[in-house]
Amino acid sequence: MNNLTKITLLSTLIVGVAYASDIYLTHNTKLPKLKMPDNNLTFQMIEGYPDYKIVATHFRTDKNELRYILANPIGYNALKDKLKVMPEGSKIVKIGWSVKKMELFPKALEADKIQRVEYMVKDSKNFDANGDNWGYARFIKKDGKFEAWNKGTKGCIACHSVAKENDFLFTKLQNSFE
Ligand code: HEC
Repeated sequence: MNNLTKITLLSTLIVGVAYASDIYLTHNTKLPKLKMPDNNLTFQMIEGYPDYKIVATHFRTDKNELRYILANPIGYNALKDKLKVMPEGSKIVKIGWSVKKMELFPKALEADKIQRVEYMVKDSKNFDANGDNWGYARFIKKDGKFEAWNKGTKGCIACHSVAKENDFLFTKLQNSFE
């Protein structure tokens, strides 16, 4: 192999790697770059969340909002094993949609517009203030754009304390298939 061939091969490799990592980067930055003002949790922390497994579905009657609860693999397995305390790295996501009547069958409702994406992440290093070790984040969609919740997370912690016995989670794995 002469020097020119070596250089050509090397530059092809470099361009190839740069191209691949660029794809990786773009793939990894699909979610808006948003950050919670009070605890710095980012939207991108749950990149890939649509691929998480569904844990439960809820309907909030006062807000007329359909909600899916999803968990990353660590969280999902812990819920399946009914662990009392969720392990580090568990991520539980809630997506909320408005609903509309199905055009072809108006007695049925279907998801319409996404209204919110919220999550809880188990992270004892950064979130140990009240002993629950959960970090809370909420991103609301307004006028077609997501924005980070700017009213703090004290309210989240206070209300989720009702579910203290269940590691601050209202959700249980829905086993209605069995
Ligand atoms: C007034 C009570 C209340 C407040 C405040 C509240 N939540 Fe919740 N949250 C609930 C209830 C009830 C559920 C289960 C029903 C549902 O899915 O809406 C829930 C479910 C969740 C879930 C799914 C896991 C679980 O516990 O079931 C996440 C994630 C979540 N909330 C995040 C947040 C975040 C982030 C905030 C603050 C920005 C927040 N919540 C504030 C009552 C509350």
